[in-house]
Amino acid sequence: MTQLIDFNDENSNTSDNPSFDSVLQARLSRRGLLRGSVGTVGTTLLGGLALAGCGGGDTLATIPTPTPAPAPATETLLSFAAVAKTMADTVTVPAGYTASVIYALGDPLTAATPAYKNDGTDTGFENRAGDHHDGMEWFGLDASGKSSLSAIDRGLLAVNHEATTDEKLSSFFLHADGGTSTLRRPAVEVDKETAIHGISVVEVKSTSGKWATVQSSTFNFRLTSLSENIQLSGPARGNALMVTKHSTDGTKTRGTINNCGTGKTPWGTFLTGEENWAGYFFRNATDDTARNNDKSVASLKRYGRSLPVDKNTGAVLDANSRHGWESVVSGEDKYVRWNNSKLGVSVDGSDDYRNELNTFGYIVELDAYDKTKAARKRTALGRFAHESAAFGKPVAGKPLAVYMGDDSRGEYIYKFVSAANWAAADANPADRVTTGDKYLDSGKLYAAKFGSDGKGQWVELSITNPLIADYATYDFADQADVLVNARLAADAVGATKMDRPEWCSTNVANGEIYFTLTNNVNRAINSTSMPPDSANPRVYNDTKNGVAAKDVGNLNGHILRVKEDTAGSTATSFSWDVYVFGAESSAAPGTVNLSSLTGEQDFSSPDGLVFSPATGIMWIQTDDGAYADVTNCMMLAALPGAVGDGAKKTLSYTKTNGSALNVDTYVGKAPGADKLKRFLVGAKDCEITGLCETPDGKAMFVNIQHPGEGTKMADIADPSKYTSQWPSNAGYGAGKRPRSATVVITKNDGGRIGS
Ligand code: FEO
Ligand code: CA
Ligand code: CA
Repeated sequence: MTQLIDFNDENSNTSDNPSFDSVLQARLSRRGLLRGSVGTVGTTLLGGLALAGCGGGDTLATIPTPTPAPAPATETLLSFAAVAKTMADTVTVPAGYTASVIYALGDPLTAATPAYKNDGTDTGFENRAGDHHDGMEWFGLDASGKSSLSAIDRGLLAVNHEATTDEKLSSFFLHADGGTSTLRRPAVEVDKETAIHGISVVEVKSTSGKWATVQSSTFNFRLTSLSENIQLSGPARGNALMVTKHSTDGTKTRGTINNCGTGKTPWGTFLTGEENWAGYFFRNATDDTARNNDKSVASLKRYGRSLPVDKNTGAVLDANSRHGWESVVSGEDKYVRWNNSKLGVSVDGSDDYRNELNTFGYIVELDAYDKTKAARKRTALGRFAHESAAFGKPVAGKPLAVYMGDDSRGEYIYKFVSAANWAAADANPADRVTTGDKYLDSGKLYAAKFGSDGKGQWVELSITNPLIADYATYDFADQADVLVNARLAADAVGATKMDRPEWCSTNVANGEIYFTLTNNVNRAINSTSMPPDSANPRVYNDTKNGVAAKDVGNLNGHILRVKEDTAGSTATSFSWDVYVFGAESSAAPGTVNLSSLTGEQDFSSPDGLVFSPATGIMWIQTDDGAYADVTNCMMLAALPGAVGDGAKKTLSYTKTNGSALNVDTYVGKAPGADKLKRFLVGAKDCEITGLCETPDGKAMFVNIQHPGEGTKMADIADPSKYTSQWPSNAGYGAGKRPRSATVVITKNDGGRIGS
């Protein structure tokens, strides 16, 4: 999109925090360590794993119980024929499978809501599916409409609606003429745009093997970016940092926004991560001065809300929010709240929205089965650009661990460890949200440091740590301040700058945690802040249409995995390696295609990542620009091994000053043809994201996000110029405007998905 500034700000880490021991390569042998650990890790089945993906199913009811379930005797996983790379404007799945659209942008969620016309005249999005479907989880329902851990033909999908396809302020596919691209924005357009963000819960049902949403279901609901009564929960509830005109005691906020990855708790609630929220808010060009350049300015800068400047002229921009929602003439509070400037005269911020950004950037928990229960922003899990939240193995009597990534260039990987010990009886509680209070409002937050020896440490982000308490860049007031400004605290302790952590998920077979690192064009040989390091070791050039591209860095991303040391959820040390490096199959094997990917496996920019609790398959989804000259985004099925199944590898670089930079890394065993295979390729200009299944693994739900994103707003009246017409070209719905949508995938012989 043509924007002067990037509202998916992926460049906020300007800290001096050096990339962890990137230059000083300790030459410790890791071989013995890993050899000693592989046997036990690879062969132990963990009981009752709580699942980052959905479809938790029976494992939740009967913890502990072995997962995955035994495969049918005749089944061979990954026996399908790999799908070829393609740029066709369709969703392609292997022979023997069917993908059907069931839930697209604008679809009605109440009986009274009219069908979606898809011509820019539709309204009432508070009762329709939102835009840019992202992470998604399954919540089963039995025949009587009660929550069920085993239901396979009726359930709820909880779906994130991350953002919208936009250009120059306007979500142009939502407006008949493409909308306004200048300030001030009309209320009628803004009201649609604020309403298509958030989450939706929709009932789905299979009748004679055919899945559809239930438009009249009383379970259906939306949360939007303006929903009332979103509770701030945990240590930062009521803190001075949370005081706004809307909540002068700092206990609540309105809405959730840019909801990206998801998670499902062991007690059966939905977790949704707020990712690139900063860009929705506006700041006056004079706001740094109005704040006397106090510590709130340092916080705003670290969270991507610097006062933006025109890249060409250097002038501070007045029009500096993604959509200009704050600019509506009426001046109603629901618009003014998007202005994050210090406008009032109060000392505490109770007469304006100067602190509003502190109420965004959380993992939000809600009960998908009960729309009357207020959602909670779980401040104990830290504030950053959240993707998914993956639980490690729940062990009765031990704390729970939740793994999370912060998706910006050079940001960190985090772990939360609950203060409360897991009680198996909480797997099916009477009050799910109160159970969430028990596990997610109190605990310890850690950031990860990855060593060049294949080991790593979790460093607690505590106000009692002198590195944090005495940090020169930012004066932390208390532990709530540490959590609200977790990025700054992680800077202070020297966490490892990663190549954009997206989703994480826990291997149901052995409990290891996998993290997608999608790509990082800022990783550079001569960089002092982000040179290649052991956990992010690649810097290389790419080709586009056969020509060397100008972008250099880690262009295709990788998937890293962590094995906790013996303490499990409470371990402060771990082993790690890289399961797989994304690459084009034709790329140099010794420096780029380190995992020896073939044409049936090659991919770029891993993002969504979900282990199926039913089959144990790891599903990898891509959000990729680097490979867009060859293929649309895709989804692959993987059967990974375990940390340490590969070998050490040293990558050698030469800096421009002539000095050598040698980086030791650890490359997992190359996935053979039977262990990694492309399963799906999406429509044009889409991203594949979000995945959940029925507990039997026979129906899989996947989201196709922002097809046709490359369309120009000026072409709104000419469908032939849309870069995609999916899903109407698949026979779904009216109009030709492309729509984000959920597809359900089934196997024609009734088998499990991925066999
Ligand atoms: Fe919303 Fe980082 O993907
Ligand atoms: Ca993502
Ligand atoms: Ca993404």
